[in-house]
Amino acid sequence: MLTRIAVFVSGGGTNLQALIDAEKSGIIKSGKIELVISSKPGVFALERAQKAGIKTQVVSRKESQGQEDFEGKIISALEENGIDFIVLAGFMSILSENFTKKYADRIINVHPSLIPSFCGKGFYGLKVHEEALKYGVKVSGATVHFVNEIPDGGKIILQKAVEVKEGDTPEVLQKRIMEQAEWKLLPEACELVSRMIQEEKI
Ligand code: GAR
Repeated sequence: MLTRIAVFVSGGGTNLQALIDAEKSGIIKSGKIELVISSKPGVFALERAQKAGIKTQVVSRKESQGQEDFEGKIISALEENGIDFIVLAGFMSILSENFTKKYADRIINVHPSLIPSFCGKGFYGLKVHEEALKYGVKVSGATVHFVNEIPDGGKIILQKAVEVKEGDTPEVLQKRIMEQAEWKLLPEACELVSRMIQEEKI
């Protein structure tokens, strides 16, 4: 049986697109993307999912009555769709320990730096690249890791270094890291973990 995947998004969804393309091309073959959950309405990631014929659901953090209500709605959606694996692809809400414990070894995340640098609470999206440039690192990259109760603190699955170039802006560095690392690593890790779940190794 294929591992039933839900992808969580909050924005543009280029990593979601990489996952959709990887499923089409057979890089992801042990799992199937069954559901896309967005924490924000109207984001482009939802259009990408709809275009690929994937079921979507918006669970707004803002319109929820606190974290428990927000996560309760997410859990209902996951259970209704028989989801057994969650991929965070640019999901900008932090999940509580309650949630991450319930889905231990069943959630992965892509982060746009080499963890443990430039990660943890407050480090997301462009902010990560701004801080990397401010610090003056010559190498950055991306990390795919399991998600536990510590933000960006779970076991590392895959990591790839990307060169920082003279004159980089946060936007330019973000794009290079996406192209050279994130869009390859996330589908690879997604297949790896989908297969482990399918084979009941985790
Ligand atoms: C990606 O760079 C992803 O690694 C990052 O946000 C971007 C989302 O882009 N995620 C984080 O910073 C999580 N801490 P996308 O919506 O185009 O995939």
